[in-house]
Amino acid sequence: MADLTLVPRQPRPDGPSTAGWDTLRDEPGPDTVRCLGLYAKLTAGVTVVTALDGTGQPTGMTVSALTSLSARPPLVLACLRGTSRTLTALKQQGAFAVSLLTDHQRSVAELFADTSVPPARRFENSPVRRVLGLPVLADALAWSVCLVEDVRPYGDHHAVVGRVMAVEVNGGRPLLWHDRAFHALPTATTD
Ligand SMILES: Cc1cc2nc3c(=O)[nH]c(=O)nc-3n(C[C@H](O)[C@H](O)[C@H](O)COP(=O)(O)O)c2cc1C
Repeated sequence: MADLTLVPRQPRPDGPSTAGWDTLRDEPGPDTVRCLGLYAKLTAGVTVVTALDGTGQPTGMTVSALTSLSARPPLVLACLRGTSRTLTALKQQGAFAVSLLTDHQRSVAELFADTSVPPARRFENSPVRRVLGLPVLADALAWSVCLVEDVRPYGDHHAVVGRVMAVEVNGGRPLLWHDRAFHALPTATTD
């Protein structure tokens, strides 16, 4: 690796201080494969993000990159690939829903991630409820309906911030995604 002597510089008025990191910013950093290896070690719940497309038809995709962002106001953050049809739909309509999957819904997660399955067919095996007009998976661990607060591109994904407008929490155990595989919590540690 090149010499990474840090050079202090003035903070930008419009962003975080980057003082001292200029030399490092010129480095290419680890390659994509190594970074994906890091991301694979993150453990996340599995969700299905749903929206309505331009013709009012439900569309949706499996998403593990979803997290709570704020309690007051209630905000969630989802990271969606720039090419996602669900992203296009939620940007057009200004709203989306999130259904958190249970460990019985592994096949649902696979279906909503399958690029060869058209959006309408992804809903075929799941009971769907309409809440504020949006489709939610009725037998999910929990669901929420959100208004789009902000959408910004970052690299090959978009950060989508949603303001939570409706919530339901049901029983069940979460489906987890870790090391590119589905998992369930060990029985002893859950309700
Ligand atoms: C477990 C799992 C988690 C996923 N998480 C995400 C994610 O967080 N963001 C994303 O953009 N795609 C994610 N995907 C891939 C999308 O579900 C997949 O590309 C989907 O077909 C996109 O659908 P769409 O283009 O119809 O919106 C995930 C796939 C799986 C299997």
